[in-house]
Amino acid sequence: MEGYILDWANLLLRWAHVITAIAWIGSSFYFVWLDNSLEKPVDPQLLEKGVGGELWAVHGGGFYNPQKYLGAPRTLPSNLHWFYWESYSTWMTGFGLLVVLYLFNASTFLIDRNVYDMSPGAAVGLAIAYLLVGWVVYDGICRLFGKNDKLVGVLVALYVVLAAYVACNVFSGRAAFLLTGAMLATIMSANVLVWIIPGQRKMVAAMREGKPVDPIHGKNGKQRSVHNTYFTLPVLFAMLSNHYSMTYAHKHNWLVLVLIMLAGVLIRQFFILKHKGRINIAWPAAGVAALGAVAVMVAPQPRTPVAAQPGGAAAAASTVSFAKVQQIMNERCVQCHAEAPKMMPTAAKGIRLDTPEEIKAHAQLIYQQAVQQKVMPLGNVTQITDEERALLGQWFEAGAATAN
Ligand code: HEC
Repeated sequence: MEGYILDWANLLLRWAHVITAIAWIGSSFYFVWLDNSLEKPVDPQLLEKGVGGELWAVHGGGFYNPQKYLGAPRTLPSNLHWFYWESYSTWMTGFGLLVVLYLFNASTFLIDRNVYDMSPGAAVGLAIAYLLVGWVVYDGICRLFGKNDKLVGVLVALYVVLAAYVACNVFSGRAAFLLTGAMLATIMSANVLVWIIPGQRKMVAAMREGKPVDPIHGKNGKQRSVHNTYFTLPVLFAMLSNHYSMTYAHKHNWLVLVLIMLAGVLIRQFFILKHKGRINIAWPAAGVAALGAVAVMVAPQPRTPVAAQPGGAAAAASTVSFAKVQQIMNERCVQCHAEAPKMMPTAAKGIRLDTPEEIKAHAQLIYQQAVQQKVMPLGNVTQITDEERALLGQWFEAGAATAN
């Protein structure tokens, strides 16, 4: 019953998370586009009002003419629209999902004994610390070196690489990718909460009091906002990565994560420049090259055929019996892959490995997940041995589904 309730919490949080994230990133993309597409007005009336950029757009059957003021408008309208709930609600639903899925199931999802063995309590503590430390270090870099945008950019990038490396050596690959994304997303939301919105509030307060507006608020907010823009694509990959075990199961998964995030940054850069009317294909080309490098890097290695391994002729001759395979499934897999599994509310991903027919039907997937990528059993909670993985490999290579 508890598992069933958690499943519903998971469903509702995930649904809300995707909706709020679309609202947040959608408005963020829109404003980045708007800001970079503005043109200096020619109308003297607009110039006189203090408008520094404007554009015309048609959307949904109407014509729009947004105008951006160089400094503060002379009078502030009483109804000023703000954008922050999109960001806060994305963070809150995302954190809720992290709690329900990863922190409540730390031993299955956060921990991989082959990476680093720790107690569930320690794993939960480390996961939360990972998010907090990420913000503290990032914010520290910006505070200390804030005047030098390039230096800040380089230091932040180096920190993300280091963080990805650490996460991949502490948590299961799947959790490491997700947590790195969550850390960046936490930074993005904290930027809105701690810098961008308070800065805007101070600007508005000064304007309402008729005082001059200190440009530092705008400058600080802008720097954080630019960082958020470059974090977006990397974060979105990290959030989706748990569907792609080929990426997080690799031996050097931290490098895979870094390269794919880099590809995201390069591709985003292309669009930012394009908004300004500058088309430079080199950016996305470099991004695609990074993705290509990853694709080559994580491509499945052909396993040395059993017969070619030292002393393998004998091993190949003695083919693995199906009874042995079934025994491995019973000891290592059915806890989560059965009609009524013990460790999951229902069969994980709808895959059952508790009957000969089901095992044979999933032979290819078993081979991929348990032999090639070694992502199953999840976190190796059921402690499958390398020898058992090798036996499953032999069974599959000898024509699994048809064997007796
Ligand atoms: C602790 C629970 C647990 C154990 C034990 C476990 N699995 Fe899984 N398995 C899962 C979960 C959860 C998923 C779904 C993962 C996802 O959504 O990406 C899954 C997914 C799979 C998939 C589908 C992968 C895909 O992307 O289509 C296969 C195949 C699989 N497991 C095989 C195995 C095999 C073989 C074993 C035993 C050697 C095993 N599992 C043991 C929890 C487990």
